Amino acid sequence: MATTRRHFLETTAAAPLAAAQHRRVSANDHIQFATIGVGGMGSEDTRSARAQQGVKLVAVCDLYNGRLERAREVWGRDIATTRDYREILQRKDIDAVIIATPDHWHAKIAGDAMEAGKDVYLEKPMVREIPDGQKLTAVEKRTGRILQVGSQRVSSIVYQKAKELLEAGAIGELNLVEAWWDRNSAIGAWEYSIPPDASPETVDWDRFLGAAPRHAFDAKRFFRWRCYRDYGTGVAGDLFVHLFSGLHFVTGSTGPERVYSTGGLRFWNDGRDVPDVLLGVYDYPAHGKLPPFNLALRVNFVNGGSENSGFRFVGSEGTLAIGHGVTLSKVPRETEPGYTISTFAEATQKEFLREYNRKYPHGEPSADALRPQSEERYNPPRGYSDHLDHHRNFFHSVRTRRPVVENAVFGLRAAGPALLSNMSHFDERIYDWDPETMKIKS
Ligand SMILES: NC(=O)c1ccc[n+]([C@@H]2O[C@H](COP(=O)([O-])OP(=O)(O)OC[C@H]3O[C@@H](n4cnc5c(N)ncnc54)[C@H](O)[C@@H]3O)[C@@H](O)[C@H]2O)c1
Repeated sequence: MATTRRHFLETTAAAPLAAAQHRRVSANDHIQFATIGVGGMGSEDTRSARAQQGVKLVAVCDLYNGRLERAREVWGRDIATTRDYREILQRKDIDAVIIATPDHWHAKIAGDAMEAGKDVYLEKPMVREIPDGQKLTAVEKRTGRILQVGSQRVSSIVYQKAKELLEAGAIGELNLVEAWWDRNSAIGAWEYSIPPDASPETVDWDRFLGAAPRHAFDAKRFFRWRCYRDYGTGVAGDLFVHLFSGLHFVTGSTGPERVYSTGGLRFWNDGRDVPDVLLGVYDYPAHGKLPPFNLALRVNFVNGGSENSGFRFVGSEGTLAIGHGVTLSKVPRETEPGYTISTFAEATQKEFLREYNRKYPHGEPSADALRPQSEERYNPPRGYSDHLDHHRNFFHSVRTRRPVVENAVFGLRAAGPALLSNMSHFDERIYDWDPETMKIKS
């Protein structure tokens, strides 16, 4: 059972490393939850939540009949189903909700849920608009409910290992981070399947629109909502936000103070109004022991090759890459006795070399050049799931009332720069952001 298994990262030397702690729960601290939005991710979340001990699914809410029916097929006919999430919030026997609706519903449902006394697992990006993030952090604080945002790498043992290595000075002083998320398929580019029975009868179109601009029923807009700014948050809200969450967890940074982003719609011209290629550059200020550094992000849905995503942390003494696992590489810094010294006058060349040889007697290489070349790999165990760990952490906090790492403030510190990336692209300007107060400066 996932909730009772200890997870280990394995190094190439096969030394086991830090593992997640698990607590056995007795039958009487049973938690009942409901999922609101049981499409792709809501179903994944429900699976991971159901895999936790002492956690029971009792209801689901969705706006497409086919998904309500599917929930009953998969999780049992005794599960309550509804198109109206407020029916779920009214139920006293439900302790927690998972919210995996499109982005334009996140803030409203999460706020209502906390006001109704529910703990909330809220999919990323936490909000679609920055001011909603401020409101949600206030509701979380006032109600004392647990809110965990669903960027699962924050609970990953892989990211935990990268964090430990960085903190231990494994790559010296950080100066640059690069992260990317490349795709090369129609599904990867959000052209999700539309069921043949999609119609105004099987889909609650008015409720889907909510506060979004009025629009006639359009199955494409409903099932491929990410492609439209009225409901989604573009590649930045979908994927940059994961990269910001991972980066902030690993470095402990609260976010950038300057944001610039640009991109374009290069290939998937299917009526979408958001780019399929987006680049972002960010200035991160010093934070605690962390020096100032720069960040470069990229999402490319037409990368012409295989789909992949990763991180590269660059420091004065080496690099740390995150992909499937963590790779720490160190290469000696090259040293030469001078550059183009042959263009100096002969006497000056001799003087230069005399000085150089005095500094490095007997032709000894510099300390930099002596540094051994090395590569260490840390891999998670086969089948490791950070998603299961993220749900384990959530339900642990629901039980113990201990705060989660990825709370509303953490969520907004990741969503804010992601949403600003969209604004920078569309407004064609640089934004200054205060990562502490989580407000736009200019
Ligand atoms: N953590 C991750 O790795 C990850 C991965 C994918 C998606 N997500 C996030 O999960 C959310 C859902 O994405 P998805 O890919 O599952 O979308 P999806 O379209 O597959 O599912 C969304 C579901 O929400 C339902 N819905 C819409 N409005 C609703 C409302 N008001 N009340 C109840 N149900 C409603 C829809 O009917 C649909 O079934 C998004 O915010 C997305 O960013 C997170």
